[in-house]
Amino acid sequence: MLRIGVIGCGAIGRDHMRRLRDLVPDATVTACSDYFPESAKLAAKQYDIPHVYDTGEELIESAEVEAVLIASSDASHAGYVLACIRQGKPVFCEKPLAQTSADCEKIIEAEMSGGKRLVQVGFMRRYDPGYREMKRIVQSGELGNPLMIHAVHRNMHQPDGLTSEMGVSNIAIHELDICRWLLDDEYKNGQVLKVRQSSYSVKGYDNPQIVLLETGMGCRIDVEVQLSDGYGYDIQCQVVCEKGTVSLPDPYAVVTRSEAGRIMPILTDWSQRFIQAYDIELNEWVQAVKNNGGYGPGSWDGYAACVAADTLNRSRNTGRFMEIQMMPKPDLYADGSN
Ligand SMILES: NC(=O)c1ccc[n+]([C@@H]2O[C@H](COP(=O)([O-])OP(=O)(O)OC[C@H]3O[C@@H](n4cnc5c(N)ncnc54)[C@H](O)[C@@H]3O)[C@@H](O)[C@H]2O)c1
Repeated sequence: MLRIGVIGCGAIGRDHMRRLRDLVPDATVTACSDYFPESAKLAAKQYDIPHVYDTGEELIESAEVEAVLIASSDASHAGYVLACIRQGKPVFCEKPLAQTSADCEKIIEAEMSGGKRLVQVGFMRRYDPGYREMKRIVQSGELGNPLMIHAVHRNMHQPDGLTSEMGVSNIAIHELDICRWLLDDEYKNGQVLKVRQSSYSVKGYDNPQIVLLETGMGCRIDVEVQLSDGYGYDIQCQVVCEKGTVSLPDPYAVVTRSEAGRIMPILTDWSQRFIQAYDIELNEWVQAVKNNGGYGPGSWDGYAACVAADTLNRSRNTGRFMEIQMMPKPDLYADGSN
């Protein structure tokens, strides 16, 4: 049994505790910790977790903990990941890996000096069967070269405290990862644009925003990011190739016909939309830890998405495309999935 410590006992932290307890064989949650000790105690009671630590650092250093899952707020990710690397412990970090590309570089340097991969980033869409099939078709070449991606990220809710920048660095970060993964290409330049603003948005937050990107091979990507959309959690993605298109399927939903109408419900909760992807993701991560290799998206992927997000946010309000400058890819990440 792999003994995992979870830092951050909020929405996704508790969801991962449930998943690890009920759906992932060979793993057990042995410890938890939260900025608010009461939250950690409550989660420990709910999920039968034997050890509660006052700080994330204590959890990481504990001999009880063999691997760490970080599900705390964005600002705490980089520090905890670095502490895990110092301890030589495998770590699964929810997205984003860090809030700045400079912090991602520190993580890459630390991981490289240890000489082996320890970090996986929670880009769970790579485990979604719909996206996996899209990637297979795009990379098979059967539709010719990919030319463009049109993507949509709409959410019913606007979390408290969310800034316009986080609309890119926290929300559209999923698209920033999945588009480069689908195309197997890196970004060359990008820009974020404001469009006519929704009157349902919280004041001071740019909503909707449109992210525009160009890749090294010249593919163009547009991503609509919209919160308070008034109807549901809706993720769309279409890759346009030379001989056809490939689109992300909508989640399974039953169609009801009644009273002269046809109704097909749309999900409103992000945790349900990719539930299967999260399950597969944690199962495969636990196996990678046990096999000491075969990790999914890692520090390099966290870095690539973060560099793109930083650049896009710098382009905000400038009206200009900006170059997305990445360091050369270190050999340690050469056998990665991207
Ligand atoms: N992969 C995904 O699709 C996905 C989905 C949701 C959230 N997330 C990521 O997971 C993280 C948590 O999101 P959430 O929705 O559960 O948020 P949340 O606010 O519900 O929970 C965050 C928890 O972290 C705790 N916390 C904050 N700072 C801390 C620190 N320094 N040390 C320890 N605990 C700390 C908070 O007290 C809270 O309990 C975020 O980084 C978010 O981006 C990823």
